[in-house]
Amino acid sequence: MTTVIDGNEIGDQITEGVAACTDTLVSEGVTPGLATVLMSDDGASETYVSMKQRACNEIGIEGFHHQISADESAEALFSTIDELNADPAVHGILVQMPLPDHVPKRDVLERIDPMKDVDGFHPENVGRLVAGNARYKPCTPHGIQKMLAETGVVTEGKDVVVVGRSDIVGKPMANLLIQYGPGGNATTTVCHSRTDDLADKTRNADIVIAAAGVPEMIDGSMLSAGTTVIDVGINRVDADTEKGYELVGDVDFESAKEKADAITPVPGGVGPLTIAMLLYNTVKAASLQSG
Ligand code: GUN
Repeated sequence: MTTVIDGNEIGDQITEGVAACTDTLVSEGVTPGLATVLMSDDGASETYVSMKQRACNEIGIEGFHHQISADESAEALFSTIDELNADPAVHGILVQMPLPDHVPKRDVLERIDPMKDVDGFHPENVGRLVAGNARYKPCTPHGIQKMLAETGVVTEGKDVVVVGRSDIVGKPMANLLIQYGPGGNATTTVCHSRTDDLADKTRNADIVIAAAGVPEMIDGSMLSAGTTVIDVGINRVDADTEKGYELVGDVDFESAKEKADAITPVPGGVGPLTIAMLLYNTVKAASLQSG
């Protein structure tokens, strides 16, 4: 029997723990604060940011939201970040990606105070992660580590294939997997759009983590029996539904489920973990800044 991993349930468990830490901080006079910044008119990004804000409100984290039109200058974003860096009520800052093409992403990430960088994307925090001394682990890879642990999937000694090399998921995921200790110690292969014979790599994997942003690119024929499949993709594809689209992952769920030992659905898989770990990082940020 294939286990369909319930990301909502695991996310709720983590969130409960974070809520308890929030209550403790509030009783000590510190209300954790998360600022989200959206410089985009993209409907999907708007949805993700509002889900993050709602999750904060539900556990007593104060949410601040800043919307900047996609055709404004990069300076508008920089000055918003400067204000948030200086605001003591804001412990965490999240600038939703992707940004418009005219905005230099690296300058934006470097502008955020590394202590408030709850995404873990600032070069200082990336460096700390690679050095094995993370301050804030990026939310999606950290959530996947938690999900594997909760599902009883051990990474030590296993062949793990990460498909995708993004700064947000692929690179930090691979880094966490090769580190010493629980959730690490894996033999890790990072595949991407230039990989020759992807199926050869995925068929030899114990765990496949699909994070390429390509709808249903991995199907059951590319997997061996007994694989654990983690699907990070959330792709909108045209469909005859009320909204005119449906959400599909990077994995063809039905055929992959035939082979997998455990598999995440889309939606309801990795997504809730990303949000739970954002709350976790925000409370950690508040704690570090008030201590
Ligand atoms: N866009 C997609 N995922 C993420 C994320 O984890 N953080 C930010 N800031 N933007 C994203």
